[in-house]
Amino acid sequence: MKLIFASGNKHKVGEIKSKIPTGIEIFSMKEMGFEGDIDETGQTLEVNAKIKSDFIYSLFHENCFADDTGLEIKGLNGAPGVYSARYAGANCSFQDNVDLVLKNLKGTNERSARFRTVIHLHWKNQEFQFEGIVNGTITESPIGEAGFGYDPIFLPRGFKKTFAEMNLSEKNEISHRAIAVNKMIDFLRSEV
Ligand code: IMP
Repeated sequence: MKLIFASGNKHKVGEIKSKIPTGIEIFSMKEMGFEGDIDETGQTLEVNAKIKSDFIYSLFHENCFADDTGLEIKGLNGAPGVYSARYAGANCSFQDNVDLVLKNLKGTNERSARFRTVIHLHWKNQEFQFEGIVNGTITESPIGEAGFGYDPIFLPRGFKKTFAEMNLSEKNEISHRAIAVNKMIDFLRSEV
């Protein structure tokens, strides 16, 4: 059974390929010959994941899925949320985004936050969504070198290390994306 992952991120594709049950073969967009970007014009993670998954479905008419992730910070009324990639503006760096979060949180005690991933799956002419959440807090300053994005300022609840102090396999055991992916994989296992 063929399943296309609407992502150009080779780390995500590799992670998912290593987990997928036998009987299902994952293809990246690159492997399908598509290398463009898909506009994320939605105002929620759910809508953006659907936009990307629908777009790939409209091109190939094959089973496919897309994911979208945001960091939702309570003291910033849920920001950066769906705008996590470009919180500090178009073409900003991860560092710019981290700096802006810390600046906007100055003087606040409400530093609780969560990472949330939504996966939208087209499967056998039906559509499904899977959600993964990790709760935590935003640190006062960046700690750790690993990972990407907001990892250096996110301290997952119950842990003494930020995501950027964890190695990839430690993070992958508890991450928002892993939780959403594992839910989808459980569903697919029941299908093949
Ligand atoms: P995407 O939907 O996976 O492309 O994620 C959107 C943005 O959220 C990224 O550009 C990052 O800034 C941030 N982000 C997503 N996942 C993570 C993560 O695991 N750690 C830190 N930041 C993340």
